[in-house]
Amino acid sequence: MSSKPRLIVFISGSGSNLQAIIDAINSGHLAAEIILVVSNRKAAQGLVRAAEHGIPTLYHPLRPYREAGQGRAAYESDLAQKIRPFGPDLVVLAGWMHILGADFLRQFPQKVINLHPALPGQFAGTQAIERAFAAYQRGEITHSGCMVHLAVPEVDAGPVIAQAEVPIYPEDTLDDFAARLHAAEHETIVTAIHRFLHLP
Ligand code: GRF
Repeated sequence: MSSKPRLIVFISGSGSNLQAIIDAINSGHLAAEIILVVSNRKAAQGLVRAAEHGIPTLYHPLRPYREAGQGRAAYESDLAQKIRPFGPDLVVLAGWMHILGADFLRQFPQKVINLHPALPGQFAGTQAIERAFAAYQRGEITHSGCMVHLAVPEVDAGPVIAQAEVPIYPEDTLDDFAARLHAAEHETIVTAIHRFLHLP
């Protein structure tokens, strides 16, 4: 029996994308196993979701490093050392709100993918949903979307593995658009993992 691909999922917040991955695995749509969930925020609801599904969790905050006068390099080096023994086949950044640098990514070459709630080349960085909605209201765009890409040192860039367009309608509130976009993310993150695991 070949072992299933081993996923580590990084979260920072509600973990709705983590939940989408869990659901896809439990329903048989994704032949993989989540061996660890990492969060940089103690209050992340995603940690509760992981625990409810018996998935080991690792809370790894940046604050102690800052308070000890250490930089992000030490934080990320320790993070890499903590997760390496798990032997991940894929590290999924799903709602992870911390930019991982080149040194970390180099430890897991071509194995880190990132979900971003915007289309390639648009609205990189934080508040992408809000910025897209504002751009729509200014008449600058007709739709937005989400993507999953191979993580590279440049923020929210890298080869795209999966993407989905998300329409915006005149009667939309920001919440209406955000809900539609999150629903697209929940599908796209699973599609991307499936494609990654079946790359030639
Ligand atoms: C998502 O839009 C994700 O792309 C962004 O945070 C939102 C919530 O993600 N980074 P989740 O519910 O924590 O998966």
